[in-house]
Amino acid sequence: MDNIRVDLVAAARPNFMKVAPLYHALKATPWCDVRLIHTGQHYDANMSDSFFEDFALPAPDVHLEVGSGPHGEQTGKVMTAYEKVCLSTPPDWVIVVGDVNSTVACALVAVKLGIRVAHLEAGLRSRDRSMPEEINRLVTDAIVDLLWTPSQDGDDNLIAEGVPADKIDFVGNIMLDAFEMVRDRITQANVAQRLGLDGRPFGVVTLHRPSNVDDPAVLEVLMDQLVQASRKLPLVFAVHPRTRDRLERSGFMARLTAAEDIHLIEPLGYIEFMSLVTRARVAITDSGGIQEETTYLGIPCLTLRDNTERPITLTQGTNRLVKPDSLLIELDAALASAQQSKPRPQLWDGHAAPRIVESLERHARAHQ
Ligand code: UD1
Repeated sequence: MDNIRVDLVAAARPNFMKVAPLYHALKATPWCDVRLIHTGQHYDANMSDSFFEDFALPAPDVHLEVGSGPHGEQTGKVMTAYEKVCLSTPPDWVIVVGDVNSTVACALVAVKLGIRVAHLEAGLRSRDRSMPEEINRLVTDAIVDLLWTPSQDGDDNLIAEGVPADKIDFVGNIMLDAFEMVRDRITQANVAQRLGLDGRPFGVVTLHRPSNVDDPAVLEVLMDQLVQASRKLPLVFAVHPRTRDRLERSGFMARLTAAEDIHLIEPLGYIEFMSLVTRARVAITDSGGIQEETTYLGIPCLTLRDNTERPITLTQGTNRLVKPDSLLIELDAALASAQQSKPRPQLWDGHAAPRIVESLERHARAHQ
């Protein structure tokens, strides 16, 4: 039988750590030929290249180089470019991950060409349709052939939306495979020491969601709360390019640089960033992935959002949803509470990639 040709699509920072364990696991099988596609949605060295180095990913087989842009334009550019690739050298299966614009773009192109598509990290729902990622999740899950969920709530959401159960496989959370893959190097790296924080408790901060950084009124409240928080606990703030732009335009950057214990740094690669998270007393974030990583590590996480598509991090983890103006109060509560160790969510065990490979082989053979 011929090998199954699989395209694995990576696009933006939150994709690379999901793609890496799966790429290596697929590469190790004798029955599949895997092609790594980079859409170029993220392109900076510290938003993209450093993840390829950290996870020993080769240069992409195909680079679409779409870059940034408004949603319609960016999604359209990915579709136009990826369609050409699929027409000239069609794969048998396309694997898309997460919820970024490239995820839905490549899924749309492939299903319309009759190519089978699998979605890794399917079924997550925030029920907030003002989030572009929620639209991407809904559309992707409605059209793909195989849906790999990280937690049982994902299965429940998909079943409620009418997805047939035989298209859904609960495989667990691939993010933790990525963590375990490079755990030793995370332990060895010590960015906190480089920042002069070794041995001191500190918090790690990331923010980039439009709902937090695009409205100057919200951004101002957040920055004031962070400045006050830093008087209780030194904060390391890894500033996303979008956030840097908004801070500079609104003039709030000066307030942050003036605060003695806010350490502003560029976005870090995976290993360096996780070296901070693993040593942090608390994470303050609006990222999806950090909610999961802190639950896995038992580190309190204050999530600056009204909702989360990852509710298991609230019910079985260390995550709390926080309003911008109550950050300080919530931080006090988090610092006062004793760290309690909870069992990790089911199948968040660092072995999602082999389960995904097994699922893909089973479904691919069924359609051969
Ligand atoms: C995208 C994803 C979001 C993800 C986020 C992580 C969608 C709909 N959203 O957000 O889910 O959490 O990425 O970063 O796909 N920029 C750079 N260098 C880069 C990438 C971006 O300078 O490598 C700049 C862009 O020019 C732009 C800004 O950062 O000005 C916004 O980029 P980013 O936040 O990554 O894109 P989003 O589409 O908002």
